Amino acid sequence: MSRKNQTLGEFIIENQASFKYTSGELSRLINSIRLAAKVVNHEVNKAGLVDIIGAAGETNIQGEDQQKLDVYANDKFIQTLTNRNIVCGIASEEEDDFITINSQDENNNNKYVVLIDPLDGSSNIDVNVSVGTIFSVYRRVTPVGTPVQLEDFLQKGNQQVAAGYVVYGTSTMLVYTTGHGVNGFTLNPAIGTFYLSHPNMTFPTDGKIYSVNEGNYIHFPQGIKDYIKYCQMEEGDRPYTSRYIGSLVSDFHRNMIKGGIYLYPKSSKTSNGKLRLLYECNPMAFLAEQAQGKASDGFTRILDIEPTELHQRVPFICGSKNMVEKAEEFMRLAT
Ligand code: AHG
Ligand code: MN
Ligand code: MN
Ligand code: MN
Repeated sequence: MSRKNQTLGEFIIENQASFKYTSGELSRLINSIRLAAKVVNHEVNKAGLVDIIGAAGETNIQGEDQQKLDVYANDKFIQTLTNRNIVCGIASEEEDDFITINSQDENNNNKYVVLIDPLDGSSNIDVNVSVGTIFSVYRRVTPVGTPVQLEDFLQKGNQQVAAGYVVYGTSTMLVYTTGHGVNGFTLNPAIGTFYLSHPNMTFPTDGKIYSVNEGNYIHFPQGIKDYIKYCQMEEGDRPYTSRYIGSLVSDFHRNMIKGGIYLYPKSSKTSNGKLRLLYECNPMAFLAEQAQGKASDGFTRILDIEPTELHQRVPFICGSKNMVEKAEEFMRLAT
C-alpha cells in the first residue's frame, strides 16, 4: 500500500507484511541505509565548501583513483550497517574483500548481506554533477551464526531480496524495491525526512533517449555500433536524443522516468565492459525488471548470470523493454 506524502519510515512499516520473511530485519536494514544516505547527502551537498573534493591519494582494487567522497561514503555506509548490527556481511566497490560482521551478541542471527557501490559516478564530484549510491541485499546461504563466506555474496541477481539507489541530484532521492515494484522517496532537506514522491515507478515500454559513452565507439562490438547507428537514423521517432551523464544512477533514473536505454558494452579495450555485476548491474537490473524494464549483457538476462568473483565486470544494457530488445537483436545479428 502506498500513499503520496507518506514518509519512508511509515512506508517501510506499512509494507513490512509483504516481505517474504517478516522478522523486521529487512525493515531495519532499509532504515539504516536511509540514515547513511542522509549523512552522505549532507557531506555531498557541501562538497565545494569543505575539503572533501579531489583524490584521496589511494587506488582501489578496480585500479581507480579513490576520491575523498568515495572513501567517506564507503566508511559511512559500512559504519552505519556495522554499528547497528543489522547484517552479517558487507561487500563494497572500495574494499578488496568482503567484510565479516562479528556480532557482540552470540545469539546473533543476522541473515542478510549487503553489497554497495558507496559513491557512483565519482568522476562527477568535482564538477558539481549528480552522483549516487547503489545497494543490493541478499539472504545469506550459509548457516546463520557462522562467519559469512564468499558464496553468500556470489549469488545470482535473481536471488536479491532488495535493491535500490540514492541519487544526490537537484533533489536527493532514495529509490528501492523489495520485489513488489519500485518506489521513489524525495528528501526534504529542511527536516531530514524522505517522502514518497514517486509511487510505483515504471519505465515507459519505449523511449527516445540513448545513453552511452560514444567516445569509445571505435572500440565497441559491431552489434553495438549498428544499434547506435540505428538510434541516429532518421526514421519514425528517430533520431533519438543522446544523454550521458557518466553516473549510472543518474542516467538510469532519467531513463526510467522519461524512457530510454543505457549501454556500457564491452570494447576492444575492456573485455567485460566496466560496470561491476554484483553492486552495480544486479541491483539496477532488479530495479529495471521491477519497473517493467529490462537488463541484459547483450545476450543473457543480467539477473541469471552466475557470479564468479566479487568485483566481476559485465557488459550492461538496461532500460525500456523494447529498446533493450532492439539492441539485443542487433547483437544477435552481428554474431
Ligand atoms: P564509480 O564512480 O562507482 O566507479 O562508477 C562509475 C561508472 C558509472 O557510474 C558510469 O556510468 C561509468 O562508470 C562511466 O564510465 P565512463 O567514464 O567510462 O563512461
Ligand atoms: Mn569507482
Ligand atoms: Mn559505480
Ligand atoms: Mn563507486
